[in-house]
Amino acid sequence: MTPPIREQLDDPADAVESGQRKMDWARQHMPIMAALREEFEATQPFADQRIGMAMHVEAKTAILADVLAAGGAEVAITGCNPLSTHDDVSAALDAVDGVTSYARRGVDDDEYYAAIEAVIEHEPTITVDDGMDLVAAIHEDYPELIDSIVGGAEETTTGVHRLRAMDEDGALEYPMFAVNDTPMKRLFDNVHGTGESSLASIAMTTNLSWAGKTVVVAGYGHCGKGVAKKASGQNANVVVTEVEPRRALEAHMEGYDVLPMAEAAKKGDVFITTTGNRDVIVDEHFDAMQDGVLLANAGHFDVEIDLDALSEKAVDTYEARDGVQAYEMADGRRLNVLAEGRLVNLATPIALGHPVEVMDQSFGVQAVSVRELVENGDDYEPGVHDVPDELDKEVAEIKLDAEGVAYDELTGDQREYMGSWQHGT
Ligand code: NAI
Repeated sequence: MTPPIREQLDDPADAVESGQRKMDWARQHMPIMAALREEFEATQPFADQRIGMAMHVEAKTAILADVLAAGGAEVAITGCNPLSTHDDVSAALDAVDGVTSYARRGVDDDEYYAAIEAVIEHEPTITVDDGMDLVAAIHEDYPELIDSIVGGAEETTTGVHRLRAMDEDGALEYPMFAVNDTPMKRLFDNVHGTGESSLASIAMTTNLSWAGKTVVVAGYGHCGKGVAKKASGQNANVVVTEVEPRRALEAHMEGYDVLPMAEAAKKGDVFITTTGNRDVIVDEHFDAMQDGVLLANAGHFDVEIDLDALSEKAVDTYEARDGVQAYEMADGRRLNVLAEGRLVNLATPIALGHPVEVMDQSFGVQAVSVRELVENGDDYEPGVHDVPDELDKEVAEIKLDAEGVAYDELTGDQREYMGSWQHGT
């Protein structure tokens, strides 16, 4: 049985102090979470609820868990990626009243799933996932808990894809909110968050410049658009690969080169996958690449770059820098993989994940979704649900207020005009 993180560390007091400093910094830049904390502290909406969470355990996520606990919940949390946990933050979170954290960085597969089980042992009434690991484990191994689960919320694109597939198979047995799909999440977190933090993480891990580089962005969805735009803003030449014709056209009209990966492989200095798909960069592409290329993945799972094929091809492999593994080919070329092909913005040794302000929005939507489940959970059938639009707007309004941004309201005439089909020329 996995013990909470503080029982796993040699010096938990030091870790707690360091983690609390990181949480304090994040808290200062999360006005949405501050406003919701004030509301939840007063109204205690989560009293009697047990919230199980599997997310990237770093400072911003810790603030979400802390806010849910302040609203009366018993929270149990673990990681959703073996390399993204900050142990000090996990310890600081474990020291928060009402929270138990099992997350630890660098765990192997068995330890990773044992920590998920430890969270499930708390018999959650609500689940909050990033990648659907909790939902999957509960349905597969603990179906007896489903009756007492009010519902859950899912953070990321890949998790929502998996949930929809499960729903279509008739296998999803409690309601899940697709937090990822809200404008307040997707248009900011996936675009700006992934764009900024992936490039920052790659630059810091390698100490290399973007200017003049050819950056191949695989996938021109929300994350890909952010990565492409920010790389272009840093004076890189951007090449996009796609499988969806309209997305490919969008990238073309945005002024990027659009190429099949087989062609892009010859040109790129840096490759960043953002597809949520598997086998995007494979054997034949490695053969075409130049010496010294960087290979990074920003999609949820570590299956976008075929590392098994790369390992097989390599005559030698070694750690070129902290967080960079070089694979040497028979002809002497070195292909450098960052963060073992896992989420580059979260899993390199110096990675910090998305900027704080962006996560304030995403976690604001998470928090109001959990509140909605508690207040109106009975209204939702098992399956995947959109987060009600008024909740998303509520989060936007809190943020605009905090930023001191005023905006216009529709007049009565305008509202009538927009709702009418009879007005015309
Ligand atoms: P999206 O669905 O908006 O975009 C994915 C794009 O990839 C689509 O345009 C699709 O046509 C394209 N694609 C699929 N297979 C491809 C292939 N073989 N070659 C080239 N293009 C291909 O999804 P979104 O929101 O951009 O998310 C992408 C991934 O990033 C997901 O796994 C998601 O969970 C993850 N994600 C990661 C974050 C991070 O912090 N690194 C933050 C948010 C999402």
